[in-house]
Amino acid sequence: MPTGVQSYALSAKYYDQAYAAKKDLADLPFYLELAKRIGGPVLELACGTGRVLLPIAREGIAIHGVDNSEPMLNVLRAKLESEAKDVAEMVSVFEGDMRSFRSNQEFPLVIIPFRPLQHMYTIEDQRAALETAAFHLEDDGVLAFNVFFPLFDRLYSGIGEEMLELEWTDPSDSSKIAQRHFRKESLDKVNQNFSAAFIFRTWQGGKLIAEETEPLKMSYYTYPQLRALFLLTGLEIVEEYGSFAKAPLDNDAQEMIFVLKKAR
Ligand SMILES: C[S@@+](CC[C@H](N)C(=O)[O-])C[C@H]1O[C@@H](n2cnc3c(N)ncnc32)[C@H](O)[C@@H]1O
Repeated sequence: MPTGVQSYALSAKYYDQAYAAKKDLADLPFYLELAKRIGGPVLELACGTGRVLLPIAREGIAIHGVDNSEPMLNVLRAKLESEAKDVAEMVSVFEGDMRSFRSNQEFPLVIIPFRPLQHMYTIEDQRAALETAAFHLEDDGVLAFNVFFPLFDRLYSGIGEEMLELEWTDPSDSSKIAQRHFRKESLDKVNQNFSAAFIFRTWQGGKLIAEETEPLKMSYYTYPQLRALFLLTGLEIVEEYGSFAKAPLDNDAQEMIFVLKKAR
């Protein structure tokens, strides 16, 4: 009987394959550089399948990963089995909720890569997740995370439309092509979130052989809202960027990337 949260069950199956095909996902060098500069041990909240966690561990930096999805953590644990022993020894995995997780350790670096804070749907949950991060920071420790920059024309349009987002060859059978489609189902402009579906389709010889759908809900933030959350949670901005190439966070931003410290 599974005991953990079963969210991301289908996404877990396709996560690494799908994101290996996402060529514009340029966050890894940013988080890796930060981990090399600051050193470990690192705490990653919402570590998923270890997409960022494992490359950090491979640099010889100790890292603790927390996630509340049992399927995502199962993928990570399976990957750790085939890692070199000295890399696997760098990693500790915890099943926990980023709103309530507490350990008795403090870290020089806490990271929340690739928008898990967008799975926090209320101010209370957003505050709780940032408090978890702040709680685990050493006095001079650094928190880094990213969420998408809200492009309102895009957010407010396309409801009910299906979009092909990603396509890749099945790594275990090169005769199969897998696709991930995205369909926004509804938008809550007041609470700043949307509900959507990921539709995974597998094709072989031009025929559709599998179709699986998983719901997705994401909140989105405005910059002043994040600034208010930082005030509430005792955090202050050290660096902020609008892209992983470290472009300024201005009207052309694609992402909101923050490096924060505990406020003095
Ligand atoms: C888009 S993935 C990001 C995973 C990883 N950080 C990466 O960069 O690939 C979002 C992750 O947030 C996790 N998550 C969502 N809500 C959570 C919560 N309340 N506590 C812990 N993890 C959560 C999901 O299970 C999923 O693994």
